[in-house]
Amino acid sequence: MEITKDKAITQLDNFANVNQLLVAESPKAINVCDFTGRFHGRTVVDNINLEISDGSITAIVGPSGCGKSTFLRSINRMNDRISGWSRQGSIELYGEQVYANDVELLSLRRRVGMVFQRPNPFPMSIEENIACGVRAHRLAPRSHMKDIVRARLEEVGLWKAVSGRLKESPFQLSGGQQQLLCLARALAVQPEVLLLDEPTSSLDPISTQAVEELLKEFVPELTIVIVTHNLAQAKRIADNVAFFMNGSLVEFGSCEQIFDSPKEPETAKYVSGIFG
Ligand SMILES: Nc1ncnc2c1ncn2[C@@H]1O[C@H](COP(=O)(O)OP(=O)(O)O)[C@@H](O)[C@H]1O
Ligand SMILES: [Mg+2]
Repeated sequence: MEITKDKAITQLDNFANVNQLLVAESPKAINVCDFTGRFHGRTVVDNINLEISDGSITAIVGPSGCGKSTFLRSINRMNDRISGWSRQGSIELYGEQVYANDVELLSLRRRVGMVFQRPNPFPMSIEENIACGVRAHRLAPRSHMKDIVRARLEEVGLWKAVSGRLKESPFQLSGGQQQLLCLARALAVQPEVLLLDEPTSSLDPISTQAVEELLKEFVPELTIVIVTHNLAQAKRIADNVAFFMNGSLVEFGSCEQIFDSPKEPETAKYVSGIFG
């Protein structure tokens, strides 16, 4: 069949429209609706509504004690077993309810990985730190494990430093190297979302830069939510910024908007360093 020029143009137009539709409807990685969290009845996360788009880096900033960590930990249900914890509202991960009764915590935490403030390698060899999750979730046959360990360590820039000591304890590594190992461990199970709670606050500036650069490389394949008290860090790496105060989300917007033209007076004060 011969395609006329007009027909070809119409087809191209249709194609462009479909593409626009796909962009407009890009999925929300995380959708938080009226989410409230309490410890022993005291509200620490107060009616949060927030949408985090797929493949973005979102920084959560705000004064100490305002509920950033508690909110972050709510996303992969890390608060569930803390005594006195209760919650209301919903959090969806790619359209699925995180708090549905039939959600398996192990598989939720594979999909939503976490890196903490203090590096917390497992008390096992460097190699096992990477391999254990891959094995537990049956993500690869045993015969591939060596290659996977190497690939993950290369990805975070640790391979050269540790290739000769894979069977040794990770606690001999520097703090920065331990944190990179934790990052590699989190990535080894192929999460869709990575939560990071002040991941560089115990690191020196060079290790901090290494972690920041890595995070930027992981998007848009990964969606990242990072709590940081370092506003310069948020500026360097975030697409969007959520400003929390006293458990509430005061303002959410693009990094540029939050830092250059905040709408709320509290945000303006915070980003200009008047309090915090
Ligand atoms: N396990 C817990 N039990 C009781 N209260 C807690 C617990 N964890 C945090 N909190 C309280 O919740 C509030 C928010 O804490 P957190 O989320 O750690 O704040 P941020 O990360 O912003 O510094 C604080 O008042 C803190 O004391
Ligand atoms: Mg915290």
